[in-house]
Amino acid sequence: MNIPNHVAIILDGNGRWAKAKGMPRSYGHMKGCANLESICDDVKELGIKYLTVYAFSTENWKRSREEVEGLMKLFRSYLKRCLKIAERNRMRVRIIGNISAFDQDIQDSIHVLEDYSSQYDELYFQIALNYGSRDELVRGIRKLAADISDGKIAPSDIGEETLEGYLDTAGVPDPDLLIRTSGEMRLSNFLLWQMAYTEMYFTDVAWPDFHKKELVEAIEVYNGRDRRYGGIKEEASCSRQD
Ligand code: IPE
Ligand code: IPE
Ligand code: MG
Repeated sequence: MNIPNHVAIILDGNGRWAKAKGMPRSYGHMKGCANLESICDDVKELGIKYLTVYAFSTENWKRSREEVEGLMKLFRSYLKRCLKIAERNRMRVRIIGNISAFDQDIQDSIHVLEDYSSQYDELYFQIALNYGSRDELVRGIRKLAADISDGKIAPSDIGEETLEGYLDTAGVPDPDLLIRTSGEMRLSNFLLWQMAYTEMYFTDVAWPDFHKKELVEAIEVYNGRDRRYGGIKEEASCSRQD
Protein backbone atom coordinates (compact mmCIF):
# COMPACT_ATOMS: atom_id res chain seq x y z
CA MET A 1 0.00 0.00 0.00
CA ASN A 2 1.32 3.42 -1.00
CA ILE A 3 1.07 5.52 2.17
CA PRO A 4 0.33 9.22 1.55
CA ASN A 5 2.91 11.57 3.01
CA HIS A 6 0.33 14.08 4.29
CA VAL A 7 -3.26 13.32 5.29
CA ALA A 8 -5.67 16.14 6.19
CA ILE A 9 -8.96 15.42 7.96
CA ILE A 10 -12.08 17.53 8.46
CA LEU A 11 -13.37 16.07 11.72
CA ASP A 12 -17.09 16.42 11.12
CA GLY A 13 -20.29 14.93 12.51
CA ASN A 14 -19.77 14.91 16.27
CA GLY A 15 -23.10 16.64 16.91
CA ARG A 16 -25.21 14.45 14.63
CA TRP A 17 -23.51 11.32 15.98
CA ALA A 18 -24.45 12.27 19.53
CA LYS A 19 -27.99 13.29 18.57
CA ALA A 20 -28.57 9.89 16.94
CA LYS A 21 -27.73 8.35 20.31
CA GLY A 22 -30.09 10.70 22.16
CA MET A 23 -27.11 12.46 23.72
CA PRO A 24 -26.10 16.18 23.82
CA ARG A 25 -23.70 17.55 21.19
CA SER A 26 -21.05 17.96 23.89
CA TYR A 27 -20.95 14.16 24.26
CA GLY A 28 -20.13 13.90 20.55
CA HIS A 29 -17.32 16.42 20.93
CA MET A 30 -15.91 14.51 23.89
CA LYS A 31 -15.89 11.24 21.93
CA GLY A 32 -14.52 13.02 18.87
CA CYS A 33 -11.68 14.38 20.96
CA ALA A 34 -10.88 10.90 22.29
CA ASN A 35 -10.83 9.63 18.72
CA LEU A 36 -8.30 12.28 17.77
CA GLU A 37 -5.95 10.72 20.28
CA SER A 38 -6.26 7.21 18.82
CA ILE A 39 -6.04 8.38 15.20
CA CYS A 40 -2.61 9.89 15.97
CA ASP A 41 -1.42 6.46 17.11
CA ASP A 42 -2.89 4.85 13.96
CA VAL A 43 -1.31 7.45 11.67
CA LYS A 44 2.06 6.87 13.31
CA GLU A 45 1.73 3.09 12.95
CA LEU A 46 0.84 3.39 9.27
CA GLY A 47 3.91 5.54 8.64
CA ILE A 48 2.10 8.72 7.59
CA LYS A 49 4.50 11.62 8.14
CA TYR A 50 2.12 14.62 8.27
CA LEU A 51 -1.38 14.81 9.73
CA THR A 52 -3.46 18.00 9.73
CA VAL A 53 -6.88 18.12 11.38
CA TYR A 54 -9.60 20.76 11.28
CA ALA A 55 -10.94 21.05 14.82
CA PHE A 56 -12.41 24.59 15.06
CA SER A 57 -13.07 27.00 12.21
CA THR A 58 -13.22 30.80 12.15
CA GLU A 59 -16.95 30.28 11.49
CA ASN A 60 -17.52 27.96 14.48
CA TRP A 61 -17.77 30.96 16.88
CA LYS A 62 -21.30 31.35 15.48
CA ARG A 63 -22.46 28.32 17.47
CA SER A 64 -24.32 28.70 20.76
CA ARG A 65 -22.38 30.13 23.69
CA GLU A 66 -22.84 26.85 25.54
CA GLU A 67 -21.34 24.80 22.70
CA VAL A 68 -18.39 27.17 22.19
CA GLU A 69 -17.66 27.18 25.93
CA GLY A 70 -17.82 23.38 25.99
CA LEU A 71 -15.36 23.19 23.10
CA MET A 72 -12.96 25.61 24.85
CA LYS A 73 -13.07 23.40 27.93
CA LEU A 74 -12.27 20.41 25.78
CA PHE A 75 -9.35 22.21 24.09
CA ARG A 76 -7.97 23.13 27.52
CA SER A 77 -7.81 19.53 28.64
CA TYR A 78 -6.78 18.14 25.24
CA LEU A 79 -3.83 20.53 24.83
CA LYS A 80 -2.44 19.29 28.16
CA ARG A 81 -3.12 15.64 27.34
CA CYS A 82 -1.46 16.13 23.95
CA LEU A 83 1.95 16.43 25.65
CA LYS A 84 1.73 12.69 26.40
CA ILE A 85 0.48 11.87 22.88
CA ALA A 86 3.38 13.85 21.42
CA GLU A 87 5.85 12.02 23.62
CA ARG A 88 4.40 8.59 22.84
CA ASN A 89 4.44 9.14 19.08
CA ARG A 90 7.51 11.35 18.98
CA MET A 91 5.40 13.89 17.14
CA ARG A 92 5.83 17.61 16.69
CA VAL A 93 2.62 19.58 17.16
CA ARG A 94 1.83 22.89 15.52
CA ILE A 95 -1.39 24.87 15.83
CA ILE A 96 -2.51 26.60 12.64
CA GLY A 97 -5.07 29.40 12.75
CA ASN A 98 -5.35 32.70 14.57
CA ILE A 99 -4.78 31.72 18.19
CA SER A 100 -4.90 35.31 19.47
CA ALA A 101 -8.69 34.97 19.71
CA PHE A 102 -8.40 32.37 22.48
CA ASP A 103 -8.19 33.06 26.22
CA GLN A 104 -4.62 33.61 27.43
CA ASP A 105 -4.41 30.26 29.26
CA ILE A 106 -5.26 28.40 26.04
CA GLN A 107 -2.63 30.39 24.16
CA ASP A 108 -0.12 29.53 26.90
CA SER A 109 -0.93 25.81 26.64
CA ILE A 110 -0.45 25.99 22.87
CA HIS A 111 3.00 27.53 23.30
CA VAL A 112 3.99 24.94 25.92
CA LEU A 113 2.88 22.09 23.64
CA GLU A 114 4.61 23.51 20.57
CA ASP A 115 7.84 24.17 22.47
CA TYR A 116 7.85 20.80 24.22
CA SER A 117 7.14 18.81 21.06
CA SER A 118 9.66 20.71 18.91
CA GLN A 119 12.23 18.03 19.85
CA TYR A 120 10.30 15.38 17.85
CA ASP A 121 10.27 14.71 14.12
CA GLU A 122 8.72 11.28 13.52
CA LEU A 123 5.23 12.65 12.89
CA TYR A 124 4.21 16.25 12.20
CA PHE A 125 0.76 17.02 13.57
CA GLN A 126 -1.02 20.26 12.69
CA ILE A 127 -4.23 21.14 14.54
CA ALA A 128 -6.36 23.86 12.94
CA LEU A 129 -7.93 25.99 15.67
CA ASN A 130 -9.77 29.20 14.85
CA TYR A 131 -8.57 28.41 11.36
CA GLY A 132 -10.08 29.66 8.12
CA SER A 133 -8.23 29.53 4.85
CA ARG A 134 -9.33 33.01 3.81
CA ASP A 135 -8.30 34.42 7.18
CA GLU A 136 -4.90 32.66 6.86
CA LEU A 137 -4.39 34.22 3.40
CA VAL A 138 -5.37 37.69 4.64
CA ARG A 139 -3.01 37.43 7.64
CA GLY A 140 -0.20 36.13 5.41
CA ILE A 141 -0.70 38.84 2.79
CA ARG A 142 -0.68 41.52 5.50
CA LYS A 143 2.72 40.29 6.70
CA LEU A 144 3.99 40.13 3.14
CA ALA A 145 2.74 43.68 2.47
CA ALA A 146 4.53 44.90 5.61
CA ASP A 147 7.76 43.27 4.38
CA ILE A 148 7.32 44.95 1.00
CA SER A 149 6.84 48.38 2.57
CA ASP A 150 9.92 47.74 4.77
CA GLY A 151 11.87 47.04 1.58
CA LYS A 152 12.59 43.41 2.57
CA ILE A 153 11.10 42.01 -0.60
CA ALA A 154 10.29 43.45 -4.03
CA PRO A 155 6.88 42.74 -5.62
CA SER A 156 8.61 41.30 -8.69
CA ASP A 157 10.33 38.69 -6.47
CA ILE A 158 7.05 37.25 -5.18
CA GLY A 159 6.37 33.73 -6.39
CA GLU A 160 4.18 30.85 -5.20
CA GLU A 161 6.84 29.74 -2.72
CA THR A 162 7.05 33.25 -1.28
CA LEU A 163 3.35 33.28 -0.49
CA GLU A 164 3.54 29.75 0.93
CA GLY A 165 6.19 30.98 3.34
CA TYR A 166 3.72 33.48 4.80
CA LEU A 167 0.99 30.92 5.47
CA ASP A 168 0.45 29.13 8.79
CA THR A 169 1.50 25.91 7.05
CA ALA A 170 4.93 27.25 5.99
CA GLY A 171 7.33 24.32 5.65
CA VAL A 172 4.56 21.69 5.62
CA PRO A 173 4.13 19.87 2.28
CA ASP A 174 0.68 20.05 0.66
CA PRO A 175 -1.80 17.33 1.69
CA ASP A 176 -1.94 14.28 -0.59
CA LEU A 177 -5.26 13.08 0.77
CA LEU A 178 -8.17 14.94 2.36
CA ILE A 179 -10.76 12.98 4.33
CA ARG A 180 -14.06 14.54 5.42
CA THR A 181 -16.26 12.46 7.68
CA SER A 182 -20.03 12.52 8.09
CA GLY A 183 -21.31 13.01 4.57
CA GLU A 184 -20.84 16.70 3.73
CA MET A 185 -18.95 17.31 0.49
CA ARG A 186 -17.43 20.74 0.95
CA LEU A 187 -14.19 22.25 2.19
CA SER A 188 -15.69 24.70 4.70
CA ASN A 189 -12.75 27.13 4.32
CA PHE A 190 -10.00 24.54 4.96
CA LEU A 191 -6.56 24.75 3.30
CA LEU A 192 -7.86 26.24 0.03
CA TRP A 193 -4.41 27.16 -1.28
CA GLN A 194 -2.69 23.99 -0.03
CA MET A 195 -5.23 21.55 -1.50
CA ALA A 196 -4.94 22.61 -5.13
CA TYR A 197 -3.99 19.02 -6.10
CA THR A 198 -5.14 17.00 -3.09
CA GLU A 199 -7.20 13.83 -3.59
CA MET A 200 -10.52 14.02 -1.72
CA TYR A 201 -12.33 11.27 0.10
CA PHE A 202 -15.77 11.73 1.62
CA THR A 203 -17.36 9.18 3.90
CA ASP A 204 -20.72 8.97 5.67
CA VAL A 205 -19.00 7.62 8.80
CA ALA A 206 -19.17 10.22 11.60
CA TRP A 207 -15.89 11.34 13.15
CA PRO A 208 -16.31 9.50 16.49
CA ASP A 209 -16.69 6.23 14.52
CA PHE A 210 -13.77 6.83 12.15
CA HIS A 211 -11.03 4.44 13.26
CA LYS A 212 -7.98 2.71 11.79
CA LYS A 213 -10.07 0.42 9.57
CA GLU A 214 -11.83 3.44 8.00
CA LEU A 215 -8.51 5.24 7.57
CA VAL A 216 -7.01 2.24 5.77
CA GLU A 217 -10.09 2.11 3.49
CA ALA A 218 -9.57 5.78 2.60
CA ILE A 219 -5.92 5.09 1.79
CA GLU A 220 -6.91 2.14 -0.39
CA VAL A 221 -9.26 4.36 -2.39
CA TYR A 222 -6.46 6.94 -2.63
CA ASN A 223 -4.19 4.21 -4.00
CA GLY A 224 -6.64 3.59 -6.83
CA ARG A 225 -6.59 7.23 -7.93
CA ASP A 226 -4.71 8.32 -11.00
CA ARG A 227 -2.83 11.47 -10.00
CA ARG A 228 -1.76 13.58 -12.93
CA TYR A 229 -1.05 17.13 -11.78
CA GLY A 230 -2.18 18.33 -15.19
CA GLY A 231 0.09 15.97 -17.10
CA ILE A 232 -0.69 12.60 -18.66
CA LYS A 233 0.21 9.13 -17.46
CA GLU A 234 3.29 7.66 -19.09
CA GLU A 235 1.45 4.45 -20.17
CA ALA A 236 -1.26 6.55 -21.80
CA SER A 237 1.26 8.55 -23.79
CA CYS A 238 3.11 5.35 -24.90
CA SER A 239 0.04 3.33 -25.79
CA ARG A 240 -0.73 4.93 -29.14
CA GLN A 241 0.22 2.62 -31.98
CA ASP A 242 0.00 5.03 -34.95
C1 IPE B 1 -17.27 18.68 14.11
O1 IPE B 1 -18.53 18.20 14.42
C2 IPE B 1 -16.60 19.39 15.26
C3 IPE B 1 -16.57 20.86 15.15
C4 IPE B 1 -16.90 21.57 14.10
C5 IPE B 1 -16.15 21.59 16.33
P1 IPE B 1 -19.81 19.12 14.32
O2 IPE B 1 -19.99 19.83 15.61
O3 IPE B 1 -19.74 19.99 13.12
O4 IPE B 1 -20.97 18.06 14.15
P2 IPE B 1 -22.20 18.14 13.17
O5 IPE B 1 -21.63 18.37 11.80
O6 IPE B 1 -23.05 19.27 13.63
O7 IPE B 1 -22.86 16.81 13.29
C1 IPE C 1 -16.00 22.26 9.47
O1 IPE C 1 -17.11 21.68 10.02
C2 IPE C 1 -15.11 22.76 10.55
C3 IPE C 1 -14.57 21.74 11.43
C4 IPE C 1 -14.71 20.46 11.31
C5 IPE C 1 -13.80 22.26 12.51
P1 IPE C 1 -18.49 22.49 10.20
O2 IPE C 1 -19.48 21.50 10.68
O3 IPE C 1 -18.27 23.69 11.02
O4 IPE C 1 -18.76 22.94 8.70
P2 IPE C 1 -20.12 23.32 7.97
O5 IPE C 1 -20.73 24.42 8.76
O6 IPE C 1 -20.96 22.08 7.95
O7 IPE C 1 -19.68 23.72 6.60
MG1 MG D 1 -20.38 19.86 11.20
